[in-house]
Amino acid sequence: MSTSLPAASELIAPEATIVIFGASGDLTARKLVPALFHLWTAGYLPDRCPIVGAARREKTDESFREEMFQAVSKHGRSGAVSAEQWRQFAQRLHYLTLDLSQSDDYPAFAKQLDAIEQTAGLPVAEKRLFYMATTPDLFVLTAEAIAKAGMIPGRKNSSWLRVIFEKPFGRDLATAQELARRLGRLLREEQTYRIDHYLGKETVQNLLFFRFGNSIFEPLLNRIHVDHVQITVAEAQGIESGRGAYYDTSGAMRDVLQNHVLQLLGLIAMEPPAAYSPKEIRDEKVKVLEALAPGHPSDWRKWAVRGQYSEAEIDGKPVPGYRDEDRVPKDSNRETFAAMEVRVDNWRWAGVPFYLRTGKRLPSRVSEIAIQFKLPPLHLFKTVECEGDLCELVGARPNTLVFRIQPSESISLSFSTKRPGMQYQIHPVQMNFDYDSAFNLDLPEAYERLLLDALRGDSTLFMRNDELEVAWRFCTPLLEAWESDTGAPETYAAGSWGPQGAELLLARAGRTWRTPQ
Ligand code: BG6
Repeated sequence: MSTSLPAASELIAPEATIVIFGASGDLTARKLVPALFHLWTAGYLPDRCPIVGAARREKTDESFREEMFQAVSKHGRSGAVSAEQWRQFAQRLHYLTLDLSQSDDYPAFAKQLDAIEQTAGLPVAEKRLFYMATTPDLFVLTAEAIAKAGMIPGRKNSSWLRVIFEKPFGRDLATAQELARRLGRLLREEQTYRIDHYLGKETVQNLLFFRFGNSIFEPLLNRIHVDHVQITVAEAQGIESGRGAYYDTSGAMRDVLQNHVLQLLGLIAMEPPAAYSPKEIRDEKVKVLEALAPGHPSDWRKWAVRGQYSEAEIDGKPVPGYRDEDRVPKDSNRETFAAMEVRVDNWRWAGVPFYLRTGKRLPSRVSEIAIQFKLPPLHLFKTVECEGDLCELVGARPNTLVFRIQPSESISLSFSTKRPGMQYQIHPVQMNFDYDSAFNLDLPEAYERLLLDALRGDSTLFMRNDELEVAWRFCTPLLEAWESDTGAPETYAAGSWGPQGAELLLARAGRTWRTPQ
């Protein structure tokens, strides 16, 4: 792999203006401003970097700063925010009232932005990062209004504007293509940053470092040695209050599988890129997604499962079913769990099943990729294993390589050893690497990495349009089959590992899901 990685000094953001559209929403308080604060305290964000919140609600700079102080104290990484640190950081926070749907208001907004830049001592409109933390229906409207107000520099202009879009980016192939077409008339691909926050997680970035920074594992990751791969993105929480209306138009497949899970699949299955560069890495991920071979949508029950959680008791406390969540219709058939078996039809992976699952109200919040290797060809050794009263003679357990993305970030490899003693018995053990004990560091939040990269113009960890399209091309036929199906999703009790059908999906091939500890 060539070394096109930036030097430490190149990692510092340039002096630029950051504008958050839709700044009164949750994302700004929970993720964006805490991330910018940590980038600044760590020295990655220069002093002359005004951060401007824009939204319809009336606020002053002072009230916005106070709100953000509360937000950073609550949602920031560990450690209290000192008054002096906050005083210095808060000077760069500004708030401008703007009804995003009113394009006539943008010229005045542009002037206010110019004035903020002048006061900060920055060249006007030279370097700007716009973050669309809005609902998707405002993406095109806002981009059009920005263009009309003359805020999008042309190709020949040396100034730059980069625009980050939060998901969802479309709700199926047709709407994603339409959105791309409309935005593509206003913004060039290199100005467009489509976020998938999973790509900013340390442990997700580490997938490439682990695979291509070592020589001993990569030769094993293929159809000769791997039995199957399991990718799990499980959440313990249900639908957060206020989110039911959005979630009920989305579901587990659109909300998590189409983006986060497929991104993990792309990274674990892709070929080594020729260089660590945005083009090479994304080219390789696209090839994996293009090689995905699901079953036929009319036969979806053979390879996919959708579920919806029902009420149950968790730790002695009653938990509502999905249909009783705030702003969810009582007859909703929206899936809160999705699982499937897919193949990656290429030379490396032909015949290896990839099992994907995601869901809400599962027993714990855990995201992991588990690669299960084939068993040794001969069972030379055996041991007795008991579960309760049931004892059986078993051979070697398969080697499993597990990437734990969150929480307790780690990588572990299980293998067999001789159980000490006079008998010739085999025993499974584990080799563990965990981030906490190896580095003892507070891991940066995904949004820190992604905001810094966008400021530096590095789009490696953002989704390119063709990548997004191929992910939708894969998911859309199944979504359509589900939506035209009049039956309800299979139910599972809140706090369990999903519906029975998910177990059957693997049981049919003599396999079982892992139970992440
Ligand atoms: C978001 C989904 O993209 O990812 C949420 O919209 C989900 O529904 C979240 O809870 C999970 O992200 P994380 O980082 O908490 O695993």
